[in-house]
Amino acid sequence: KRVAILISGGGSNMVALVNSMTGDHPARAVLVASNDPGAGGLAKAAASGITMAAVDHRPFGRDRAGFEAELLKHIEAAEPDILCLAGFMRVLTPAFVSRFEGRMLNIHPSLLPKYPGLHTHQRAIDAGDAEAGCTVHEVTAVLDDGPILGQARVPVLAGDSADDLAARVLVQEHRLYPAVLRRYSSGDRTPIFLP
Ligand code: GRF
Repeated sequence: KRVAILISGGGSNMVALVNSMTGDHPARAVLVASNDPGAGGLAKAAASGITMAAVDHRPFGRDRAGFEAELLKHIEAAEPDILCLAGFMRVLTPAFVSRFEGRMLNIHPSLLPKYPGLHTHQRAIDAGDAEAGCTVHEVTAVLDDGPILGQARVPVLAGDSADDLAARVLVQEHRLYPAVLRRYSSGDRTPIFLP
């Protein structure tokens, strides 16, 4: 299977995914694309010899469709079977999602359906939750919704800042996403719940 990975920032999840696709893994990364030409993850992708693309979304302003049309040129050229959103921070239009529905994954830093959207860690702390975590789900037109393909949990500790919790969750993201992608690449959609 051919996997395209979309990033916006540091790309630590992309690195974990790329590093996992070796040996007898049924998938290979064929593209890393970003909406920010300055994304730190692009430099990391360059080191791995993977084709990269950067389409700055800012010149398009509110023209989401225009941005996505440009991004699609790069994605379609890579002919991916699966799209992985990994720290990708742009909301995709229903038209884009429908092109890839059923073969597009995202990782979200909360135990969905709790805390869709932003500032997930602060919200868990403010709510006094004992646990937090991350979710890999299939992307549908509804933001941070869609069938859950995996989750990993971490404790929320007394005195945790949002950054403390984010760091603890990120470690689990780097375990969960590769595990889900490997199973998903073999056609198995059974969800994975990491201990
Ligand atoms: C992570 O918290 C991830 O859950 C969210 O984006 C953040 C940065 O991810 N989707 P990455 O380091 O760019 O992969």
